[in-house]
Amino acid sequence: MNDILTAPFLVEMVRTATNMYNHGWDERNGGNISLLLSEAEVSEYCNITKILRTIPTGFSAPELDNRYFLVTGTGKYFKNIQYAPDVNLGIVKLVDGGKNAQLLWGFTDGGTFTSEFPTHIMSHAARLKVNPKNRVIMHCHPTNLLAMTYVHTLDEKEFTKTLWRMCTECIVVFPDGVNVLPWMLCGTNEIGEATAEKMKTARLVVWSQHGLYGAGADLDEAYGLIETAEKAAEIYMKIAHLPIINTITDEQLHLLEGRFGIKAREGYLKIN
Ligand code: 13P
Ligand code: ZN
Repeated sequence: MNDILTAPFLVEMVRTATNMYNHGWDERNGGNISLLLSEAEVSEYCNITKILRTIPTGFSAPELDNRYFLVTGTGKYFKNIQYAPDVNLGIVKLVDGGKNAQLLWGFTDGGTFTSEFPTHIMSHAARLKVNPKNRVIMHCHPTNLLAMTYVHTLDEKEFTKTLWRMCTECIVVFPDGVNVLPWMLCGTNEIGEATAEKMKTARLVVWSQHGLYGAGADLDEAYGLIETAEKAAEIYMKIAHLPIINTITDEQLHLLEGRFGIKAREGYLKIN
């Protein structure tokens, strides 16, 4: 059996969580990440027949039965993941239609997966229907996007277009836009279901006055999406109170569609 601390998926998870912490997106235990792994990947580093504990999930997810996830622990500080991955991360296999999770590695202090596991698993299920290669769901508390939800309308089209206008390449990175949920109680199946519904049409979902969810084929893609949207929000928060005398027009956004071969969210651009 290979040493799990050398597994590319684990190394990348630790690097990504550390980067997120260094960006200031994950204060204390804020944020959580889940990465879908194949049985072959897990088997290289863990005995998949050795179940350390069985943990009830509190939801069902028949589509993801028998699937494996590397996931951050509840209450764990992103700051510490790099120093003690086996305490702060775990590998679980969903069983019994997703109602239970078998712990195969990690959470060595008796801990468990993130309280936002319902949102992660329901979002994985939603994104896999859109893109079978989707493997990552990532949640964090990026300062400027969060700030924006206090001062900007929560209308999804308006929110998306504001972000697209803040940096030329935003529309290229997230042509599907940003969906927005109003404030809801976190850690519940209800917010999980609402987020998964929003994930059907966009890879970024804002939780108003709380944070952001991103989805991607790999850790880099989810991270890059969040990084780009947060940069745009930062520019917005720097200029929103100033007289705006220049902008990026819908015609210019349309030119970017052609130049980069992308298609903006249907009905979002007004072009003559
Ligand atoms: P966890 O510590 O349970 O992952 O919760 C952090 C968080 O950001 C809740 O939304
Ligand atoms: Zn959160």
